[in-house]
Amino acid sequence: MGAKRGSGSLMVVGGQWGDEGKGKIVDLLSAGFSAVVRYNGGHNAGHTVRVGEKHFALHLVPSGIIHSDVSCFMGAGMVIDPTALKTELDLLAEKGVEIAGRLCLSPRAALLLPTHRALDLAREGMRGEEKIGTTGRGIGPAYQDSAQRRGLRTGLLVDPDALAIKSRTLMDQHNQELEAVYGAPAVDLDEAVAELQSAAVHLAPFLREIGPEIRNYSDSQEAVLFEGAQGVLLDLIWGTYPFVTSSSCLPGSAAASCGVGPRHLGPVVGVMKAYATRVGSGPFPTEDHGNDGDLLRDLGAEYGTTTGRPRRCGWFDVVAARYAVETAGIDAIALTKLDVLDGLSTLKVALAYETEDGEVLDTFPADAETLASVRPIYVDLPPWAGGTRGLVQESDLPPAAEGYLQFLEEKIGVPIAVVSTGPRRAETMVRGTSEMTVVLGKILNRP
Ligand code: GDP
Ligand code: IMO
Ligand code: MG
Repeated sequence: MGAKRGSGSLMVVGGQWGDEGKGKIVDLLSAGFSAVVRYNGGHNAGHTVRVGEKHFALHLVPSGIIHSDVSCFMGAGMVIDPTALKTELDLLAEKGVEIAGRLCLSPRAALLLPTHRALDLAREGMRGEEKIGTTGRGIGPAYQDSAQRRGLRTGLLVDPDALAIKSRTLMDQHNQELEAVYGAPAVDLDEAVAELQSAAVHLAPFLREIGPEIRNYSDSQEAVLFEGAQGVLLDLIWGTYPFVTSSSCLPGSAAASCGVGPRHLGPVVGVMKAYATRVGSGPFPTEDHGNDGDLLRDLGAEYGTTTGRPRRCGWFDVVAARYAVETAGIDAIALTKLDVLDGLSTLKVALAYETEDGEVLDTFPADAETLASVRPIYVDLPPWAGGTRGLVQESDLPPAAEGYLQFLEEKIGVPIAVVSTGPRRAETMVRGTSEMTVVLGKILNRP
């Protein structure tokens, strides 16, 4: 692989409730990196990358994979469904992406079993109205087994016999729970074991400890890009608990996931949409239940990459954005989907919340119940008539669109250094004069 030097490592994290456009931004930035590392989550993630007329939906594989000279790593903090990974690799191969020699999977990542999927669905069914609205992929149960120290790890994929014995034992326990606690049908273990063994043969060659390689890149001044899945507001601890995912989405967790010290990490780019969306249940103060929400969903094609569910839509929330910036140490924002706001007749931004007692809050409550009860306090901003779709120069932005960006960055407190104006790579601008604008401009080769 050709070494790409000089720009240092960088982190990309979701700054809202996921689906901010991380896939597009990571793919774009990957051109400037030797290696891209995905550090959390599983195939609950859906990262869309459009290159020309080709469309890639990545779930487990890092979004750097489309660049043939980039090595891709999957960290120990991930949960891996072997069948889902095998299917994803097959789809990439069909689209002409060469994987051999470029992908490395940590043997320490947690193994997600077919019974984890069944447990996820059964538990959600049992919760009824209280359901989290998970992706139904088995993510929570797989992380739970890992934390409970009875889970299996991807390293087991090299030994089909041990895989069969150990997975059957654990899945048998899962089946007992499915039947006794949830009254759900047991999973056919012969089929499940066969499914695991079949995927294992294909995945075993990718297993390698990733820490030493990441340290090597970093020590020899080669740039590494760390890719977070989901977003700060879905983080297990810092998100809107319990309506969160089961992994740590914050950039600091990348060090633990890769087995490297924090000095190997870099500045943090937080990807945020120019408005807000959320899939699944949980508080979402700026959700618009009326025409504006429907309009944003239509214009932004807001349907989940992983599950196809319609996303809940609403206005940009400065309180939540500032919280994400502070919690994740975001140094600059890549704002996506500005073009979706083209031609709207109303443009609102939430600057604070009002509680049921009439108290005004400008900080993000730690407790989901409080967050669910607040009313956003909006400011109306001037919409713009002209289009931003496909623009690549800041100077071409309609003045009201530039005004919107300046308003947001002033209220949030960090620069918006990148603006995305369409799903394709080229539909992006580097803007402003911040330090991060210079760093990202160099990576993207845009002076
Ligand atoms: P991720 O999970 O953060 O990678 O985001 P998703 O891929 O789930 O969802 C983002 C969606 O928005 C995808 O369909 C992207 O192709 C699309 N997208 C990304 N950036 C832009 C943009 O600037 N404008 C428009 N119109 N679409 C975008
Ligand atoms: P990317 O990486 C948006 C949400 C689910 C649900 C909650 C818990 O594409 O941004 P889980 O299946 O993880 O137990 O579900 O988290 N969720 C996401 N929402 N984007 C994602 O990933 C998500 N991954 C999980 O909808 O509310
Ligand atoms: Mg997504």
